Amino acid sequence: MAGALTATCSSIEIDQADQLSAGPAERAASVPLQGKRLAFIGGGTMAEAMIRGLLDKHLVPPSHVFVTGPRRERRAELAKQFGVKALASNADAAQGAHIVVLSVKPQVLPTVLRELRGKLRAVLREGLDHATIVRAMPNTPAQIGMGITAWCATASVERDQRDRAKAILGALGEEIEVEEEGMVDMATALSGTGPTYVFLLMEALVDAGVHLGFSRRVAEELVLRTVEGSAAFARRSGRHLAELRNMVTSPGGTSAAAIYELEKGALRTVLSRAVYAAFVRTRELGAEAQQKLQRTKQ
Ligand SMILES: NC(=O)c1ccc[n+]([C@@H]2O[C@H](COP(=O)([O-])OP(=O)(O)OC[C@H]3O[C@@H](n4cnc5c(N)ncnc54)[C@H](OP(=O)(O)O)[C@@H]3O)[C@@H](O)[C@H]2O)c1
Repeated sequence: MAGALTATCSSIEIDQADQLSAGPAERAASVPLQGKRLAFIGGGTMAEAMIRGLLDKHLVPPSHVFVTGPRRERRAELAKQFGVKALASNADAAQGAHIVVLSVKPQVLPTVLRELRGKLRAVLREGLDHATIVRAMPNTPAQIGMGITAWCATASVERDQRDRAKAILGALGEEIEVEEEGMVDMATALSGTGPTYVFLLMEALVDAGVHLGFSRRVAEELVLRTVEGSAAFARRSGRHLAELRNMVTSPGGTSAAAIYELEKGALRTVLSRAVYAAFVRTRELGAEAQQKLQRTKQ
């Protein structure tokens, strides 16, 4: 299913359950991941966040989790921290798994697929031209279980397989299933890259506070709480963001003065252009990965 591999995919889940599970009774289990073995190909930041969430929520036991990576120290660290099985061979890890999570950087993906090709069960043969794929884009707050992941499934992903993908991604925080793969690229630019925008804005605000004369510690506390509180308030009030902003913008007041400067500095345009640039780059990286993949197949 080459289409699913075209972009900066954070993870692709390939379900081999049909080949491995005991039968319909097991597939119909009410707990989507019960009895399933998971292989994480690439044990980096995102895999670690997913493993932590899955184990914390008791969705799978550590003995059912395999993770791979090229560095021995990293494998030892993951095995020690989570009690999972950490292997050097991607093929070995994937071979016995019901679900394979490809959690490597997009540029590493073609190499990994080449390694896995032909070594797995029937569904993954023929160069991984495989129809049952979920593509997902999480973001960094996933590391504390507060991420947001946009994901989409190919048409051949069945209900129970979707439920399993939902359970895995739910271990990272919230998840939203989007209608088409292009929207995962859009989410990459908005929420996947999103923490970068927010951190930069927060950093700039802290610096502004220091410029006013606050200590860095106090400025950071004021900014962090302001951002946390504003997000929680926006969510709970359910009001339009412009309405919330208007509530604190009195005529001739401080907010009005600040907004005047922000608009003059074209903050909205700059943000919009930044998100669009991230989207274009997502597509470029996806195209590069696709080309690399085609070359490895020839
Ligand atoms: N981190 C984020 O905030 C974030 C947010 C949204 C989406 N994503 C996406 O999530 C995906 C994974 O990102 P990440 O942040 O988890 O990356 P990461 O921390 O760099 O993890 C990738 C892991 O893959 C390992 N690796 C490298 N070559 C390998 C190979 N041939 N076989 C098996 N493993 C190999 C790396 O090992 P070494 O370290 O030893 O090289 C590393 O541990 C990417 O597609 C990324 O775009 C990440």
